[in-house]
Amino acid sequence: MQKRIKQVEASFLKEIAGVSQPADLENIRVKYLSRKGQIARLFSGLKDVAAEDRPSVGQQLNALKSKAESIFSERKQQFESASKGDEDIDLTLPGRRAVLGHKHPLSIVQDEIKFIFRGMGFRVEDGPEIETDYYNFEALNMPKNHPARDMQDTLYITEDILLRTHTSPVQVRVMKSQQPPVKIIAPGRVYRRDTPDASHSPLFHQVEGLVVDEGINFGDLKGVITAFAHKMFGSDIKVRFRPSFFPFTEPSAEYDFNCVFCRGKGCRVCKNTGWMEISGAGMVDPNVFESVGYDSEKYTGYAFGMGVDRIAMLKYGISDIRLFFENDMRFLSQF
Ligand code: DAH
Repeated sequence: MQKRIKQVEASFLKEIAGVSQPADLENIRVKYLSRKGQIARLFSGLKDVAAEDRPSVGQQLNALKSKAESIFSERKQQFESASKGDEDIDLTLPGRRAVLGHKHPLSIVQDEIKFIFRGMGFRVEDGPEIETDYYNFEALNMPKNHPARDMQDTLYITEDILLRTHTSPVQVRVMKSQQPPVKIIAPGRVYRRDTPDASHSPLFHQVEGLVVDEGINFGDLKGVITAFAHKMFGSDIKVRFRPSFFPFTEPSAEYDFNCVFCRGKGCRVCKNTGWMEISGAGMVDPNVFESVGYDSEKYTGYAFGMGVDRIAMLKYGISDIRLFFENDMRFLSQF
């Protein structure tokens, strides 16, 4: 009897190891594990075993049966999971498209501004965002305690070091390192101590412009700004300059473009004025030339600022500046 048990076990193990398809597995089940299978038959033979040997032979048989059953169900599972894997793969489905990254709307607009000015012969310059009081204020004709400093709420790091409140300090850095003629723009981040709302953000973007040479006049400034407005928003857009004050320009102006939504007719967005404020500009103040060591008798120049976030809001019809900085993919993926 013991020999029979060993034989059945050996042939079962051999056959189940050689199974290559589900039908083979079923044959093995019938042959060994069914009610009339070989293991069941061994159990029927138990009654012929001598009474004193019966408990130990019975134990061996039970062990064989549970071993065979567990090996069988393990194999069966292997086949099931393998075939299920096949069902999951639908070879007719289209592939998954890789998501392409894309530019932030402010980068798109900044690149477009750079492209337009490069086309008019401007070079692109850069300057640090952490500035000294000297470059941000002093050299721009705003000495300590000058009331014009209050126009820009400043984030100070130390008494002398601050986050630049505008891109105008790049004017000073460029003029200190280059001789005229100068024709540059300087795009970049600027910072102000403002509470965020729909039109204010403590971080925003400007593009500074500066042109210095012999014989540069206000007409040149108007021409360049007008050409920019036409290229950016269309040639029907008119530009106007209003007298204003900045310590680093004399005379100074603020300039407006026709509202890009109603093209000057008046609408809700421009509060029926037909105009949109863009930024400030003017002729470089001789005091600024003095502080960078340019001869203010020989050279004249103009400078202008430009709000990138503002222009992007106009271009895309965005009513809240905070959207640019929240990184909500639902917003960003539209550009
Ligand atoms: N820096 C000024 C600001 O942030 C804008 C500005 C005004 C820039 C006049 C200029 C300028 O270059 O000439 O408010």
